[in-house]
Amino acid sequence: MSNFKYDVAVIGLGYVGLPLAIQATSSNLKVYGYDIDENKISNYNLGKSTIEDISDKELKASLEKGLFLSSDPKYLSESETIVISVPTPLTDYQPDLSYVKAAAETIANNITKNQIIILESTTYPGTTVEVLIPVIEEISNLKAGVDFFVGYSPERIDPGNDTWNFKNTPKVISGINDESLSKIENFYEQIIDSVVRVSGTKEAEMVKLLENTYRHVNIALINELAILCNMLEIDIWEVVNAAKTKPFGFESFRPGPGVGGHCIPVDPNYLSFKTRQIGKPVRFVELAQEINNSMPSYVVSRLLEKMNLLEKPFKNSKILILGVAYKKDIGDVRESPAIGIIENLFERGVNVKYYDPFVDSILVNKKYVEKEDSFDNIDKYDLVLVHTAHTDFENFDFSKVSVPIFDATGSDHFKNAERI
Ligand SMILES: NC(=O)c1ccc[n+]([C@@H]2O[C@H](COP(=O)([O-])OP(=O)(O)OC[C@H]3O[C@@H](n4cnc5c(N)ncnc54)[C@H](O)[C@@H]3O)[C@@H](O)[C@H]2O)c1
Repeated sequence: MSNFKYDVAVIGLGYVGLPLAIQATSSNLKVYGYDIDENKISNYNLGKSTIEDISDKELKASLEKGLFLSSDPKYLSESETIVISVPTPLTDYQPDLSYVKAAAETIANNITKNQIIILESTTYPGTTVEVLIPVIEEISNLKAGVDFFVGYSPERIDPGNDTWNFKNTPKVISGINDESLSKIENFYEQIIDSVVRVSGTKEAEMVKLLENTYRHVNIALINELAILCNMLEIDIWEVVNAAKTKPFGFESFRPGPGVGGHCIPVDPNYLSFKTRQIGKPVRFVELAQEINNSMPSYVVSRLLEKMNLLEKPFKNSKILILGVAYKKDIGDVRESPAIGIIENLFERGVNVKYYDPFVDSILVNKKYVEKEDSFDNIDKYDLVLVHTAHTDFENFDFSKVSVPIFDATGSDHFKNAERI
């Protein structure tokens, strides 16, 4: 038995940290969740979740079971394991590790000997050893691997995925030495069905970048082929659907309006940042970025083409965008391609509104975009763009809509729509 009051503390209670805290609570661990955002903590403590994958009911059940949430970091000293899941964004196109460093400082100011510290934020290989540990060691005067134990474990959460959740998705783990690794393994085995050991933190950090770069590159490939197939008058959807009947050696990716979210558009930059330090670009990443970043303007060019065919001016036209989140059934608009599309349409003098039951507001050029609260006015628009095909939309019969629909998602629901 350990002398710690909490089995685990989670630093940063967002899309990654809150599900971890909830899962650990349901696995009967004593959990303390810490976030600098006092508003978030107050809402959570009232049982109000802002994360789609966690219902208010689940959150309330965890709170009743003892999940303790606070924006005071002093309880970190009473936690045997500390998991860091703070943001790792890009600032001026460069990796921004300021949140990780701030979390490291908070830990160092509240550290207790023998604690286990695990970084889960996505980052470039080397961060745990080169950035996290030096900050903690310098402030605390303790030695990593001796006085406290450290490792890295990439998060694989897929918001909105009902099949693969935190518990049943295998978790890659690493430690800076054998003792760290075995302690980290013991920790995750209490909450996750299977763990996969790798030999070091650099390898574990790289695993996440490989997974996301793989998606990024393959999405770019299918997007480029979608554009070319359109020019060749070949139906890309028919091609993809036929190709994916091959039971081996092919994984299907779908064309779309671009890539969004906290991971796919951001993580490959962490990889290129690291390889540029040895004077090498990741050529695949750069090409994929160029193609995926061009998709919002490609979508706009297709809308323009459609309006031309209808012999209607684009300027002052009215376009309704269905779904602005970066993926279906969630409300996250971070890096959503919808932002670039709306910006481009605004520049061309188009009147844009959106309807997205998951997104209360979206800022484009520091202005809130006007929204609809239902499909009631859909026939008053000149054109409808399906940007995110939320499952909810399937309850509406689009075959009766009189306005042309351009579907950038290739969903089966918009049968009469023109597709990307
Ligand atoms: N969202 C995903 O689907 C996903 C999937 C895999 C990995 N990741 C990675 O996980 C990390 C977290 O992502 P997220 O989507 O959960 O971010 P998020 O923005 O949803 O949540 C991060 C939380 O950390 C808090 N925070 C920031 N600085 C803090 C500090 N110093 N101390 C305490 N709390 C602090 C913020 O207030 C916020 O609530 C990122 O590195 C991301 O790349 C995200």
